[in-house]
This record gives sequence, C-alpha cells and structure tokens, in this order.
Amino acid sequence: PSHRSLPPITSDHMDSLLAGTRMRRNRQTDWSRRLIRENTLTVDDLIWPVFVVDGENIRQPVPSMPGIERLSVDEAVRDANLAAELGIPAIALFPYTDPDLRDDTGSEALNPDNLTCQACRAIKGEGLNLGLMTDVALDPYTSHGHDGLMHGDSILNDETVDQLCRQALNQAEAGSDVIAPSDMMDGRIGAIRQALDTQDYRSTQIMAYSAKYASAFYGPFRDAVGSSGTLKGDKRTYQMDPANTDEALREAELDIAEGADMIMVKPGMPYLDIVRRLKDEFQVPTYAYQVSGEFAMIKAASGNGWLDGDRAMMESLLAFKRAGADGILTYFAPTVAKMLAGRD
Ligand code: PBG
Repeated sequence: PSHRSLPPITSDHMDSLLAGTRMRRNRQTDWSRRLIRENTLTVDDLIWPVFVVDGENIRQPVPSMPGIERLSVDEAVRDANLAAELGIPAIALFPYTDPDLRDDTGSEALNPDNLTCQACRAIKGEGLNLGLMTDVALDPYTSHGHDGLMHGDSILNDETVDQLCRQALNQAEAGSDVIAPSDMMDGRIGAIRQALDTQDYRSTQIMAYSAKYASAFYGPFRDAVGSSGTLKGDKRTYQMDPANTDEALREAELDIAEGADMIMVKPGMPYLDIVRRLKDEFQVPTYAYQVSGEFAMIKAASGNGWLDGDRAMMESLLAFKRAGADGILTYFAPTVAKMLAGRD
C-alpha cells in the first residue's frame, strides 16, 4: 500500500495522537461547531451610517457604493423606522451639503436648520427606540473639504475646536444622542464635553473617533458627501499615519481622559490589530468603522462574481467581534439585520 512510502510519524506526533487530541472532532457537525463558537454577531452590534440630501422623496444612488443611497429627510425617517423595526440600535447621519452652502469656515455646520439638524428633529419626532449619532467635523460644509479651519495650507487646531463645540451643541439641540467627533483635532473631546455640560446636555454621549487613520479607504464616502472633488491636498496633518500603533493608544487614552464614553477605530478591517490593542488596554466600549472603501471592495468583488458577497460580509463583520469590538458602523447594517432575522 502507498502509505509505506511515507516518512515515519515523529514521536511528538505520536504522543498527541495517542493522547487523543484531534482538533477536527469538534468541527464535524453543525451543532458542534455552534456549540464551540467563541464569537457571535448580533443585530445589537450594528450602527447604520445614513447619507442625507436636501429635497423630498429622494433616494439618490451613490455610484461607488452599490446599493447605498442619499436620502431626503422624509426617506431618512422611513429608514430610521426600518432600523428600529429591525432592532438596529443606532444610526449615524452624514449630510451631503449643497455646494452653494459650503464656504471657507463651514458655517453651515452651525446653522440650526442644516440638513443634519432637520433630519435629527424629524427622526426624533418618531419616538423610536433608536440611537441617533451625528458626525462632528467640518468637511461636509467646507469649500476646501478639510475637517477644520484653514490658514494658508495649514489646518488650525484650537480655532477649529471652538467651531466644533458649536457644531456639537447645534446637533445636541436638534436631538442627537451621540456626538461623534471625526475630525482628529487635539483636545476636542474635552472641549466638546465641557460645552455640552455647560449647556445642560450632560446626558449626550460622545463616541470619539479616537484612532482615525489617513486612509485611502474613505474614497467612496467622500463621493457620497460630495467632498472628494473639492478636497485640497490630504488629511495627513491631523489623521493618523497608517504605520503607527502606539500613537492610537495615546489618542484613545487622551479621549477617554477627556470624557469620551465610547471610542472608535477607523478604518476597520485593515486595523483589527488596533481594535484589539485598544480593547485590551482600556476595556471601554470600543467600536470599529467598516468604511466606505471596505464596503465597496466587497460589493465590487461580489458584483463581479469573484466572491460570495453575503459570506464575505458576514465574515468581515464577525472578524470585528473576534478582534474585541463591541459594535461596528457598517453600511451593511440593514442587510445583515435582515439576514440575522431570517428575512430578506
Ligand atoms: C469626515 C468623515 C469621513 C468618514 C467619516 N467621517 C471621511 C474623511 O475623514 O475624509 C469616512 C467614512 C467612510 O469612508 O465610510 N470627517
């Protein structure tokens, strides 16, 4: 027989076989695989990012994000109801601001009647069991596409923080439950916490984009909010260098000390090591943002028939749980929620 030509089994090998260790034993049936499963993805892990656009009755496809649309406020209300119905805990709003309303200082961010505020009020009016998150950063509102105020070529830190505090108050006033600063200015969490507290928004939560990297994976998002064409230069003087890890710990440590209730890592999949390190180090609620480019990659490959889109989606989300994330911001949220509930 052919096995006679194989090399002899080593004694270590023999020992483990004799001791009875066979890793495949637990894997052989579905029930057993379920029984030994260490991590699970549930609907409670999901935060759904939603793009809002001016108008009525509008669902405007975002070409670089197949299946994703910009929604007018009435349609966003509809999707907020769907989110609540599906049991998704929270949605995150991102506005597409009319180019005419964009200026050097992003003044539209402070307009109490801007798109984000309109959507907040309309959704809050539904009285849903649904958290409402809003992004704090100036990029959807600035003519130069940067998250902060500019002087020449540089992004001013403290002046921007001042503006961000006003933006956060504007959103809290409109009913936002969770303020999510995505700007990466120094000191913004503490300043925003203080601003909220002095205006009696003590219960408004803060999810800090603590480790936000200067990433190529935000491309499709910038299309969705209309800032890709306008962005001058890049964001490397405030967003983090993809080469760094220790720096993420320092950022998170500062944000937590300044009053962040939750921290976030962004992008998601290429930065699972950061999620794990932050969770191990701080044991605070930690989230990952599976960003637009990650979504687009899975969609593009599955659209071409190169991979099984549903399986890749589920595997990618489970990986966040394995890395220690308490939840995931993902454009797949409604699809996953339906799948987990066994409906589509
Ligand atoms: C804005 C912001 C960005 C994203 C979320 N908030 C883009 C950026 O920093 O340029 C990206 C989200 C995504 O790619 O899905 N500060």
